[in-house]
Parts: sequence; structure tokens; C-alpha cells
Amino acid sequence: MIEIKDMKKQFHDNVVLDGIDLTIHKGDVIGIIGPSGTGKSTLLRCINRLEVPDEGSITIDGHTYTSKAMKSREVIELRKQTGMVFQRFHLFEKKTALENVMEGLIVVQKKSREEARQIAFEELERVGMLPWINHYPKHLSGGQQQRVAIARALAMKPKLLLLDEPTSALDPELVGEVLDTIRNIAKSGYTMLLVSHEMEFVRKVSNRVIFLDNGHILEDGTPREVFEHPKNERTREFITKMNRLVEADYVI
Ligand SMILES: Nc1ncnc2c1ncn2[C@@H]1O[C@H](COP(=O)(O)OP(=O)(O)OP(=O)(O)O)[C@@H](O)[C@H]1O
Ligand SMILES: [Mg+2]
Repeated sequence: MIEIKDMKKQFHDNVVLDGIDLTIHKGDVIGIIGPSGTGKSTLLRCINRLEVPDEGSITIDGHTYTSKAMKSREVIELRKQTGMVFQRFHLFEKKTALENVMEGLIVVQKKSREEARQIAFEELERVGMLPWINHYPKHLSGGQQQRVAIARALAMKPKLLLLDEPTSALDPELVGEVLDTIRNIAKSGYTMLLVSHEMEFVRKVSNRVIFLDNGHILEDGTPREVFEHPKNERTREFITKMNRLVEADYVI
């Protein structure tokens, strides 16, 4: 179980997270939705400590990480437990797909090359990338690069996988393969927080949906509860707007 308690973050006088409490159960796939600039990325980045939260704590399987004064050893430990997949894949350009996945295993987890290679193979297979393991990122499509980035995150065996708009930098025809990959991972029992503007996908893949607005969780329920019977007027407005965009066939 993972517990986020009273997480706060502000940039100057801009309060972005205003006391977020969230309990994540093993196997939860939580879709995070909300308007632009509402703090979705900041929440993931504070969990992963790419941003240092001002207040709050994260407890992962009984170990509590508090916001202030964390030793670098603890930060590394927290990052191992919370793998991150970014909108832009951030692969090492000078390394092949296989080497990209092996890197963290060797450098952070101090695995032997042989063991790292074995794990990297398994994870690249899981995301359907075995045929391309020796390709460099520039010879891979965006969708393929994102699948390598997902394999890289999974290789660290995180207790929580954080995905921040993993398909929004992709050409529309490449979105499907990445969504399929995420759906497969979700089915195999991974615990994840997924920020996405793909409302239909969030609805299908998540068992819980959170609506984040102005630094607060305004809604936390099943996809059905949140999409069909939102408690809050702002959620209703947001979902109506997103539906209109889809109907108008805008690329979001
Ligand atoms: N490093 C930073 N320094 C200053 N302000 C920041 C920083 N990171 C984010 N912000 C501000 O915090 C607010 C929340 O940003 P965030 O990126 O978390 O929103 P978001 O919900 O992910 O938006 P989007 O849907 O557009 O990705 C915004 O007002 C943003 O300008
Ligand atoms: Mg964002």
C-alpha cells in the first residue's frame, strides 16, 4: 500500500498542490484528469521527488519518506520504488534500446551486465520491442521509443509506475500501440498513476479516476462514478468540454 499524506507544493505564491491525500492500493490503476496547469505533473514529480514537496509524506510498504531533508540514498531508494514515464521519452541517444533498459540496472541497482541484459530482454519482450533491441532511438518511431521508456521504468521493478501523458507527444497513428502496451501492463497487476487527456482510455484502463483541480482532489471514484455521475460541478464542466473536443475531432 502507498499513502500520500498532506502533500503541498507551491512555486512562489502559486499554490499548486494544496494538501493532497491519496491512498493507493496494490494493483490500483488510477487515472488522473484535470485542466491544464492544475498540478497533475507536479503531483507525479513530487511523488518521484523530481520536485521537492514543501510538506507531506509518502509511505511505501511501511517506509515513510518525508518532504524535507531526505538523504540522497533515500531519494535514490524512493525513485527506484516509483518509476516514471515522461511525455518525451528521454532515452539516451547514444545507446541502443537494450542498453537504455540495462543502464539503470547496472548503474543504480549494481546488477551484473549479464543479469541486466536478462531483465532488459524480459521487459522489452513485455512491451513488444524484442525485434528492435539493437536499434538506436533515432531509428525508432515515437511509439517504439515510448515503449522502450516503459520497459526501462518496469525493469527497475517499481512498486508504483508514474506515467505523465505518455501518448501526448506522439503522432496520432502511434498512440494506439502505446495505449495497448499500457493496457497490458495494467492487466498484469502493476500499480500505476496515469495522467492522460485520452478520456476514453482513462475510462477503460483505470479502476479509479481522480479529478484534480486547483491543487485539490475534487473527485475520487470509479470511472463510472466520475465520468457519469460527478459530484462536483467543475468535474462535470471539464468532462463535458473534453467530450465536445472529442466529438469535434480535435487532436488533444
Ligand atoms: N518548476 C516550476 N517552476 C515554477 N512554476 C511551475 C513549475 N512547474 C510547474 N509550475 C506551475 O505549476 C502549475 C501546475 O503545473 P503542472 O505542470 O503540474 O500542471 P499540469 O496539470 O500537469 O498541466 P498540463 O495538463 O498542461 O500538463 C502551473 O501553473 C505551472 O506553471
Ligand atoms: Mg502536465
